[in-house]
Amino acid sequence: MTDADAAYRIRGGARLEGAITVSGAKNAAMPCMAAALLTDEPCVIENVPEIGDVLLFAEILEALGADVEFDPGTHCAEVRTGAVANLGHVPPDRLVANQRASFLVMGPLLARLGHAACGAPGGDVIGQRPLDVHLTGFIALGADVGREGGRMVATAPRGLAGDRVVLDYPSVLGTENLLLAAVLADGRTEIVNAAAEPEVFCLAQMLLAMGAKIEGAGTHTIRIDGVDRLNGVVHELIPDRIETGTLAVAAAVTRGDVTLSGAQPRHVDALLAKLGAAGVKIEEGPTELVIRGAPALEATNVQAVPYPGLATDLQALMTTLLTQANGVSVIHERVFENRLQYVGELRKLGARIVTAGTTAIVQGPAPLHGSTVHGLDVRAAAALIVAGLASEGETELLGIDHLERGYEHLDVKLRDLGADVSRLDLAPVG
Ligand code: EPU
Repeated sequence: MTDADAAYRIRGGARLEGAITVSGAKNAAMPCMAAALLTDEPCVIENVPEIGDVLLFAEILEALGADVEFDPGTHCAEVRTGAVANLGHVPPDRLVANQRASFLVMGPLLARLGHAACGAPGGDVIGQRPLDVHLTGFIALGADVGREGGRMVATAPRGLAGDRVVLDYPSVLGTENLLLAAVLADGRTEIVNAAAEPEVFCLAQMLLAMGAKIEGAGTHTIRIDGVDRLNGVVHELIPDRIETGTLAVAAAVTRGDVTLSGAQPRHVDALLAKLGAAGVKIEEGPTELVIRGAPALEATNVQAVPYPGLATDLQALMTTLLTQANGVSVIHERVFENRLQYVGELRKLGARIVTAGTTAIVQGPAPLHGSTVHGLDVRAAAALIVAGLASEGETELLGIDHLERGYEHLDVKLRDLGADVSRLDLAPVG
């Protein structure tokens, strides 16, 4: 399903209308699948999206010796890691080189086997993305950490021991890795300045159901009392808040009328506040959002920050929306130092944006016109599709392998809402 030689063709102008169901969260799927490494009993994870990142993570777990059965029809993934003796401790370099989240195998392997190693994890090129938070945390829990060749190696032959860990930054994957390591450590771990993202909470809920002792997940201080063993579980992933936001922005930019079923409005509070400030009409139900685009959008300023602020993963989408708003909007990206690369692509479509460092200044409304653009990372690609929906004429989006790592059948969902989007197989060049 993921193909570097494919493109999306978007013909702009259609108003999105109707109802669509939000998929399970990409960024909750990988940590929850990694949690299955902590037990010899089967773990069933429900609401798993059929996306490239999930399939790649499943491949990584299988390469470590786990048995993974994913049924895209039911969105159920069953992960069985079995006895410790069956587990390898080094995921293949060629797989981890394509995914940032692959580093999440380190915490559970270190906890369960006493040693783990991992090559440099890949992923979107949106900043330096160091690993110091993860590694400093493992050291605080008593591990020795070093490098062998191109790999990070962590060992704790006598097991991990709980301690107080103060994170330099509330890293999402860093917090998850420490949580995964600390649940089987001896004694109490306290993670201070932990990430509070809903995906961390979702992972903690799964671990609690497996028998872990955790307090404070979803806040910036998490306390974990280590247990000797964890059991299997059936656990449902939260809805994808970034897909929710993407579809909400697509509805707003096309002045549409879209119901997002299965959404969790509280996970996108900051986005809804900004859409409201731009003039978009929003109705909320407990698990539903209705987005109605206003005839005229108004400029507003945006800061992308850790949760519960506006997600960096929605920053490119908000910028795209604001190209259609009356006036000047200022967007500050405060999480990743290199996440405005898509601006050059938006400019090809006619957007009036200047950047200075990690700030973008948008002058709207700018009439957009179709062109050929490149999706440089998963969220940039989504933003360019939304820009294509607001453009006159035809936009061809290249680089959709990035998009399909993170969104479940976005082309189909947009078509169901009335958009003119098709997936093209391109003949290889040269
Ligand atoms: N950072 C450090 N040291 C570390 C780790 C991170 O300084 O050890 C810095 C990063 O350089 C960055 C900031 O902390 O400036 C935030 O990085 P974080 O570690 O929180 O990001 P992540 O855990 O690598 C996850 C999501 C990203 C999302 C960010 C921020 C997954 C698989 N990825 O990445 O999602 O943007 O949190 O919310 O959960 C996406 O889905 O498109 C995506 C990139």
